Amino acid sequence: MTATFDPTRQLAPSGPLVEEDREHHRFRVHRSTMTSPEIHALELERVFGHSWLYVGHESEIREPGDYVRRPVGNRAVFMVRNKAGEVKVFHNSCSHRGAVVCRKDSGNAKVFQCFYHAWSFDTDGKLVGVPDREAYGDGLDFGALGLRPVARVESYRGFVFLSYDPDIMGLVDYLAGAAEYLDLVVDATGDAEIIRGTNEYAIDANWKLLAENSIDGYHAVPTHDTYFKYLVSLGTDLSGGVAGTAKSLGNGHAVLEYAAPWGRPVAKWEPLFGEDSREEIGRLRADLVEKYGEARARRMADTNRNMLIYPNLVINDIMAITVRTFMPTSADRMEVTAWEMAPRDELPQLRQRRLDSFLTFLGPGGFATPDDIEALESCQQGFHSGGLEWNDLSRGMARDPLANDEEQMRAFWRQWNSQVTGVER
Ligand code: FES
Ligand SMILES: [Fe+2]
Repeated sequence: MTATFDPTRQLAPSGPLVEEDREHHRFRVHRSTMTSPEIHALELERVFGHSWLYVGHESEIREPGDYVRRPVGNRAVFMVRNKAGEVKVFHNSCSHRGAVVCRKDSGNAKVFQCFYHAWSFDTDGKLVGVPDREAYGDGLDFGALGLRPVARVESYRGFVFLSYDPDIMGLVDYLAGAAEYLDLVVDATGDAEIIRGTNEYAIDANWKLLAENSIDGYHAVPTHDTYFKYLVSLGTDLSGGVAGTAKSLGNGHAVLEYAAPWGRPVAKWEPLFGEDSREEIGRLRADLVEKYGEARARRMADTNRNMLIYPNLVINDIMAITVRTFMPTSADRMEVTAWEMAPRDELPQLRQRRLDSFLTFLGPGGFATPDDIEALESCQQGFHSGGLEWNDLSRGMARDPLANDEEQMRAFWRQWNSQVTGVER
């Protein structure tokens, strides 16, 4: 096959891909990071091969034998609860000759039988069935022919992560300051569960544009104008604006924390949720105050958090709690999966409001997602116009960063740059 010449393709510069000039308050990122197939290949290996990546939530596999299958860092894996109640994550490939063993997105199984030659494996990955076993000689060690567990699996407060790097630091150290924010979300939710069902969509844009967008306070007002108008039309008071801070949490993670002028199912009532849920949300709030004290309860109930756990997990604790992950299928395309998290014992009418609220803003056809997708695809198209080589991310460098500054994105890019090019953060 002959390569076609693309005159607008951004070639990587011989110098840095990410440039930080503190003296002149300038931070810029070379656009080849978003368009180059070579950089895409490098980051699959250096970023996705050496980070902790979100697999799923323990509540998705409550019972022994429950499993979910999904790609993580572009590799086929599945997560299953074994007989002893432990969470296991396996490479989804038969030890015989490679076929994918777990072929459904979710379910419950005592054994996983490969459809190709019918070898079967238990929930610990042990090979427990081989048709015509007598055809094999005595010397063959069937004990060594189990499914291969992923190098590292750890979970934090129900969130299960894997790493393909056996030597990576422990998950808690990796999460750094993000652990405290996960605590806040989980404590406020109580017995949290991922609601069954997902939103899945693809975007014709580089995956790092969504990492940026998910913690980008600057775009909220211009891009999501329609949603804010809708809230005002329902009686929400937005006259105070949306004030807050941006924080780098270490290891590339970052969070925006800001006042919530809109309602939060945990636990701030607004007209959007309807009169019939007013009392219940009030009760939830009183429970939080009793359990965690006034100050922490107020933070849980009245402030929003948009958090990026590097490289590709987003937790939006806003008018609903969204857990979202995404990964590149090429330099120009990503696949996104989003789930909704909620208290397990939530009243049905409140659950309904929460889901409505989730879909209204963050669903694939909601007020936010199509606008964000349009923005990201538009950036990607802009990159391919050529001419301009750099993106500017300097906003807020000369002050304590606010939620609508760009420090949180700079935190992401510093980590990315150190992983991909070896430059110290
Ligand atoms: S490839 Fe799985 S049994 Fe042969
Ligand atoms: Fe947005």
